[in-house]
Amino acid sequence: MSVKFYRPEHQVPLEMHKVRIVQKLFLPTVEERVEKINEAGNNTFLLQNKDVFLDMLTDSGVNAMSDLQQASMLQADDAYAGSETCNRLKKALHEVFGTEYFLPAHQGRACENILAEAYVKPGMIVPMNFHFTTAKAHITRVGGEVIELVSESGLEPQNDNPFKGNFDLDRLRELIDTRRKDIAFVRIETGTNLIGGQPISMANMKAVCKMCREAGIRTVIDASLMQDNLYFVKVREPEYKDVSLKDIMHEIADMCDIIYFSSRKLGFSRGGAIITKHEPTYRELMEFVPLYEGFLTYGGMEVRSMEAMAQGLYETLDMEVISQGPIFIEYLVKELDDYGVPMIKPAGGLGAHINASAFLEGMPHNEYPAGALAAALYIAGGIRGMERGSISEQREPDGTERYAELELLRLACPRRVFTLSQIKYCADRVKWLYDNRDLIGGLEWVEEPSVLRFFFGRLKPKGDWQQRLAKKFREDFGDSL
Ligand code: F0G
Repeated sequence: MSVKFYRPEHQVPLEMHKVRIVQKLFLPTVEERVEKINEAGNNTFLLQNKDVFLDMLTDSGVNAMSDLQQASMLQADDAYAGSETCNRLKKALHEVFGTEYFLPAHQGRACENILAEAYVKPGMIVPMNFHFTTAKAHITRVGGEVIELVSESGLEPQNDNPFKGNFDLDRLRELIDTRRKDIAFVRIETGTNLIGGQPISMANMKAVCKMCREAGIRTVIDASLMQDNLYFVKVREPEYKDVSLKDIMHEIADMCDIIYFSSRKLGFSRGGAIITKHEPTYRELMEFVPLYEGFLTYGGMEVRSMEAMAQGLYETLDMEVISQGPIFIEYLVKELDDYGVPMIKPAGGLGAHINASAFLEGMPHNEYPAGALAAALYIAGGIRGMERGSISEQREPDGTERYAELELLRLACPRRVFTLSQIKYCADRVKWLYDNRDLIGGLEWVEEPSVLRFFFGRLKPKGDWQQRLAKKFREDFGDSL
């Protein structure tokens, strides 16, 4: 942060923006919260937004837009073909990434669908630092397999390696040596979602891309969380301290073959894009856009979102814009860590991540500690987090459970949405829950879909722990909400 406070011990993250449109919030009583979470099958995806006080489910499609983004939406040129909006977006992508070719898609997973359809055949593998749910679902749907190569530290909650999203380069080398022909592409997630928004360093990205280029293997960067990753490269990788964000973006685009992203995250908008510098790659992927998405000028996106994306991408090159998320997350992680709450450290992008296995020590995977903690936090504070643990995994083809390596409760911090007092409230309720963790029990399935079960699945508490938790809340907080 560039602004320092007079009394350093009172340093807090400072918003470099002001709020000009607000939305009223509502906080149900603790008794209502127990009711609502059960109506939602103890799945925070199924809660109604009107019943949620702080929506920390995701940073996807819920980031605050800037005044200039809002203004840009008014000039949207709504033509099926030859739209000026499309030209403006192409120009923004070219300036921000330095790429020539652009394929529009309605969101990130639509890009993943196209890439899987185009490149993954049954029996093929897709090595990556870590999977993301939708990327994996598309790859496995067409018969491919995901191989995770994240460095060991990435899976160690308290390891303070600043780049826990890095690849284990030895394992990548070995895989290339033994299975080069089976590799559809190597996917690099810049900002690893499921292991706590942990970044990957430029040095590691460069090494991966170089190794792949020499072996004739395609590299695909998932840049959905790139804005946070860029911030971490600037502040944690000394060689890049004085390099401009634009130059870093261009260097990234130079080293890989394809970049795709969800603009629900990168660019503070909606939609998605696949971009590349290689014409043959563009041509190879092009045919899928009209088939699945829409004409090449919009690919399923609404023109106003495309205008907002273009403006949002330019704003991504401003350190004061992209730092707001990470510095708020860092504040929340520190507050909780100082109190003894087991957090994923160092603080990453996207949100703060609580290590639910350590928070609910002794609770087995099959009682879904991360899901139980998500339900408990909604009861404690009307806060909607997201389970990122075993419920977010899918069963093996033979029906056995595949338990997650990390059982996390993610508290996403949509960019520029929450005030510092709301973040402090969140920390307060998590601390209370930590002091009352003995009251939290497990969950069991009531309805379990076979694909992406975390979206629609319904669970119920084992026993009456939720009523006991609400009762303790009343004892401690009186008639407070
Ligand atoms: N890749 C990453 C790293 C993501 O975080 C996401 C979405 C996608 C791809 C898919 O993009 O939603 O536009 O289709 N992450 C959201 C989340 C859903 O809540 O973390 P999408």
